[in-house]
Amino acid sequence: MINKINEIRAELMAATAANAAEVEALRIKYLSKKGAVSALMADFRNVPAEQKREIGQALNELKTFATERINELRDNAGNEGSAELLDLTRTEAPVRLGTRHPLSLVREQIIDIFRRLGFTIAEGPEVEDDWHVFEALNFAADHPARDMQDTFFVARNPEVLLRTHTSSVQTRVMSSQKPPIRIICPGRVYRNEAISARAHCFFHQVEALYVDKNVTFADLRQTLLYFAREMFGPQTDIRLRPSYFPFTEPSAEMDISCDLCGGKGCSFCKGTGWVEILGCGMVDPAVLEACGIDSKEYSGFALGMGVERITNLKYRVKDLRLFSENDTRFLEEFTAAH
Ligand code: DAH
Repeated sequence: MINKINEIRAELMAATAANAAEVEALRIKYLSKKGAVSALMADFRNVPAEQKREIGQALNELKTFATERINELRDNAGNEGSAELLDLTRTEAPVRLGTRHPLSLVREQIIDIFRRLGFTIAEGPEVEDDWHVFEALNFAADHPARDMQDTFFVARNPEVLLRTHTSSVQTRVMSSQKPPIRIICPGRVYRNEAISARAHCFFHQVEALYVDKNVTFADLRQTLLYFAREMFGPQTDIRLRPSYFPFTEPSAEMDISCDLCGGKGCSFCKGTGWVEILGCGMVDPAVLEACGIDSKEYSGFALGMGVERITNLKYRVKDLRLFSENDTRFLEEFTAAH
């Protein structure tokens, strides 16, 4: 019996298994009900009484040894099994690339279109003074846009405020450069509004300004048509509606044909076939003069649009708050838009 035990122990020591199936075959051979170890256990009955103690102990040890040895072989077989599939050229963990923010994507598209028309980027400060944001742009002293409800003032100083529109960059550039001026001004603006799906206390605008000799409304219209078709596709039509802004005369609002219904009228365009996208007009001579540009020699056009609005039209984002929450599930939806 002792010999048999030693023999099995030696066999197990020498055993190898290349995969899980071979391990299982060994387990069946030694440890199953009909296996070699179990057979010895069954034989234990016939062991003479005086040897029972010694052999019983040896048998128990064999059983433990066999179990441990087979587990060990199973562990190794597992490793060797996956070693065969292991691709050592792979990086340890996939690198998750970030995505560009939808507002950045759209801002870049807008800038790119105007760049092709010869516009260059101009920037100005977000903390501004009253003159650049309102005064030079012809806002009367009692104009409602200066109201506490719309404007964030800094340190309760009515002279220092967060710009409410990027038109302030117009006045900065016009008062420091000579025409011809052809600029595009992207930037963040602030308004004292309650945050909801449709309004936010900060958002983004892009402003364009062109000042030169003989700039006419026809130049403005052609620029707008080019922009609309580059941005929304060649089938896009535009319409200009008379409007009012203190800093332009005449002023207009531009609509584009609704690309959901192709202009037939749907719930998105409220049945009109048109959606409003920006404000524009001929720079008011008083604004040119305030900035030191001779309004008899020069004329210009300006336009301003909300980046969130254009993004909504392109990607149908329903809730403005999504733009500033940085929820990666939302941001990852724009991976393909790069
Ligand atoms: N500043 C205007 C706003 O924030 C937008 C705007 C309208 C800009 C007409 C312009 C313009 O340059 O000509 O609502």
